[in-house]
Amino acid sequence: MKVSDTIAALLAENRKFAPPQEFAAKAFFNDPSVYDRAAADPVAYWEEWARKLDWFEPWTKPLEWNPPFAKWFVGGKINACHNCVDRHVAAGAGAATAIVWEGEPGDVRSLTYEELQCEVARAANALKALGVGKGDRVCVYMPMVPELAITMLACARIGAAHSVVFGGFSAESLEERIQDAGAKVVVTADGGWRRGAIVPLKKAVDEALELGCPTVEKVLVLRRAGEPGTVTNGLATPEYDRGSWVEGRDVWWHDLVPGQSAQCPCEPMDSEDLLFILYTSGSTGKPKGIVHTTGGYLTGVSATFRYVFDIQPEDLYWCTADCGWITGHSYVVYGPLANRAHVLMYEGAPDTPDKDRFWRIIERHKATILYTAPTAIRAFMKWGTEYPERCDLSSLRLLGTVGEPINPEAWVWYHQHIGGGRCPIVDTWWQTETGQIMISPLPGLTETKPGSATRPLPGVSIGIYNDLGEDLYAEHIRRVQAGEATDSVGGYLVLTQPWPAMLRGIYGDPERFKRTYWSRFPGAYFTGDGAKVDEEGYVWLLGRVDDIMLVAGHNISTMEVESALVDHPAVAEAAVIGKAHELKGQAIAAFVILKAGYQGGPEIVDELKAHVAKKIGAIARPDDVIVCADLPKTRSGKIMRRLLRDVAEGRALGDTTTLADPNVVNALKDKYESAG
Ligand code: WTA
Repeated sequence: MKVSDTIAALLAENRKFAPPQEFAAKAFFNDPSVYDRAAADPVAYWEEWARKLDWFEPWTKPLEWNPPFAKWFVGGKINACHNCVDRHVAAGAGAATAIVWEGEPGDVRSLTYEELQCEVARAANALKALGVGKGDRVCVYMPMVPELAITMLACARIGAAHSVVFGGFSAESLEERIQDAGAKVVVTADGGWRRGAIVPLKKAVDEALELGCPTVEKVLVLRRAGEPGTVTNGLATPEYDRGSWVEGRDVWWHDLVPGQSAQCPCEPMDSEDLLFILYTSGSTGKPKGIVHTTGGYLTGVSATFRYVFDIQPEDLYWCTADCGWITGHSYVVYGPLANRAHVLMYEGAPDTPDKDRFWRIIERHKATILYTAPTAIRAFMKWGTEYPERCDLSSLRLLGTVGEPINPEAWVWYHQHIGGGRCPIVDTWWQTETGQIMISPLPGLTETKPGSATRPLPGVSIGIYNDLGEDLYAEHIRRVQAGEATDSVGGYLVLTQPWPAMLRGIYGDPERFKRTYWSRFPGAYFTGDGAKVDEEGYVWLLGRVDDIMLVAGHNISTMEVESALVDHPAVAEAAVIGKAHELKGQAIAAFVILKAGYQGGPEIVDELKAHVAKKIGAIARPDDVIVCADLPKTRSGKIMRRLLRDVAEGRALGDTTTLADPNVVNALKDKYESAG
């Protein structure tokens, strides 16, 4: 579906789904007065939530706000790991399940909170033995196995910051992130299972460290895939590149961790001490190390997890995100565990061994909540209803989505075929930078409309600004409440008040932090998203308005891919755009001009695609590479991406009057169409 069609479909959407009565009756929030209460004093509202956590020392001031720099719960002392693990054991819940994990070969492990406490303490002591201390950074590059969560918590326990890098990123991307964070130790695995093959993680770490990374002293390696031929649940590990073993640098997890003491005190951290860095794409091409601190982050994610997912003691909650993304940080690890939830984790692909894998997992473990991405839902839709129909999904009671706008058809399909028509859907809008969910229904309270994230959560203040920086939202909501609104308004989505899990900066680059988020509209946080609010006050997200693409829900900047392309010796110039894609939301299309002496043709196209995958990771591999003689530019030399999108999406060309040479784009269009 084209973007224009999606928007048209969004605006025509007027079906509404009220929370089922039975669900609402038991829900955590079922009285709308919470919105007004929180709006009257948001800081007091967040303080109420902070008080539900264990603090070693209370804060003296709830918020210090020197825009754009915020400090939450100033002076408070807290440890995130203690709050996610130890306090539950101390409260007598040690025997409760913390994590149920399923590997792609179908192997299952389950950890109680008490077992998790021991594992985390051992891993924490192991990190200490490798020289990691409070304030150090640890890079984590692992498959989706329990040890990934254990390592994150172990870092938090001893006051080291983790920087988790998604296992799909290439060695070069990994190196860039390790260097930027100045990591002392890298924790990885030999490999992880994905679609029946092994992702060679250790090999990528070896390559990254060969490229540079002088700060890295040790590499801790979990054995997950094992030697080729190792049998896991009847499946033999296929051949894969295991890299090389560097004596003195590399340490096996199984040689170091199990022998450690299971006693390791939780380091009392300042509320504003660094908890983690997580890299996200930036429009200059260089990734931004988003900084999250301890007290506010934990308050924001534990609170929102509690009421957005309406978590109940008997729930088995499954978020399908990898811990390499913010969703995995906030809603696989910190939010759920701080709430003593039972968390399901899965290692592999949704279509292995068959396209019913997710539904088999739900049936097998009786998951009650599923939180996944629109791109996955669109794939399920395409695969057909026969797959979910084979499985018993009656345990489900709530569904969620995150990562990109969900088209109403996918929403309705999810509701009907996965939720059996009975499960509310929470469409949650937020970002790596916001740390916590910001716009979402409350499932026991909010009447939902397919495709709308509905309204800001209690304690969250948004604005929708026009080009002049005037807020259209507040006045529109006033008119909605007065019954005067008959239309919708649209513009740039901003956040107008600080919130506890907000990013505290870009690691090592305060100027870029100010420039990226706070300069477009002084005093407000600019999200980079467009949004509309309709005549009933519902918010509809319209996608990015900057140079960030959302490819299968992953942020990739056009600049990042362009730099990877021009890094290839054959490429003189490149322009990259996100084009509408049925399954991935957006797919990457690259227009390249080759240097003299190089020939266009299928070989070079394949080579360039592979080059981008090698530089950034497979998630950034372009779908289309179009070799062209020239790019459409304005007279001042600016590439007109809007026209490239028209070409790639097969639309009639928009206004070409400002082009230096309109023939260029016409030729390009012919070329694209003849290439099919
Ligand atoms: C997009 C993911 C519409 C948005 C948690 C945002 C969404 C970017 C939604 C952040 C949603 C995320 N509806 N768009 N429910 N959720 N987005 O940093 O463009 O990976 O700015 O964080 O994803 O992506 P990120």
